[in-house]
Amino acid sequence: MGLSMTDEGNTLPQHVAIIMDGNGRWAKAQGLSRVEGHRKGAGRVRDVVEWASDAGVKQVSLYAFSTENWKRPKSEVTALMTLMATLLPLEIKRMNERGARLLTLGDTSKLPWIARKALDKTCKATENNSNIDVILCLNYGGHQEILEGVKQFCASFHDDISKTEALKHLNEDMFRSLLGRDHILPVDLLIRTGGERRISNFHLWDAAYAELYFTDRLWPEYNKTDFHAALDDFASRERRFGRTSEQLKGEIEDE
Ligand code: IPE
Ligand code: IPE
Ligand code: MG
Repeated sequence: MGLSMTDEGNTLPQHVAIIMDGNGRWAKAQGLSRVEGHRKGAGRVRDVVEWASDAGVKQVSLYAFSTENWKRPKSEVTALMTLMATLLPLEIKRMNERGARLLTLGDTSKLPWIARKALDKTCKATENNSNIDVILCLNYGGHQEILEGVKQFCASFHDDISKTEALKHLNEDMFRSLLGRDHILPVDLLIRTGGERRISNFHLWDAAYAELYFTDRLWPEYNKTDFHAALDDFASRERRFGRTSEQLKGEIEDE
């Protein structure tokens, strides 16, 4: 798996990131509790992994709990963690059949013990799979992650000489390593459901050149047609990565 930005001309995103939003509003519209919305939303997580792997996507990252979501009512946070801890291990068989490997992003050490246990178990049970990576982003925040990388970098200095040397050599690839991202591809397509047009602290580093796709569909009702509409839209975009359209079409030579 290469780690460079997806080549221009690729019509299928290698890494799709999804902000799964709208569980609460969906539940409210049905006269249900927010937790019921999250439960219904969990079913779509399973589905989207299937649709993505069938389409040939290599990595799908799913925003499941942000560093900001701790501000929610304690009962909702507990219910979300319990839901994850209960449902995740039940997916192991299906993930193994699909060749799906579970990875995480975010500081999972701060999650409740039952959630950590379920994650460890599922990550271990699927670690040899190689068709698709399912990256669950939990207690994840783009700011927090970049700060952590900077802290690690500073902690590696022993003296002023090593600091000067390190700063001289620091480049994007090294910084990505500091963020613990050697195995994460740049985000090609970032989808947000639920109607909001914002990134909410997701994938600040990896989504630098992501194509953004927003849909009003609430996450519990997200369906295969919606997912394919996003893939089709991605295929129609011209990813220029700073170049001109004429350069990409080969109408003028690179100098
Ligand atoms: C997204 O749905 C799920 C999480 C943030 C865990 P929300 O719970 O944010 O749903 P809305 O935005 O209130 O509808
Ligand atoms: C973003 O959704 C986080 C997740 C989907 C886990 P939120 O619903 O928490 O986002 P904001 O706060 O409305 O932007
Ligand atoms: Mg929301």
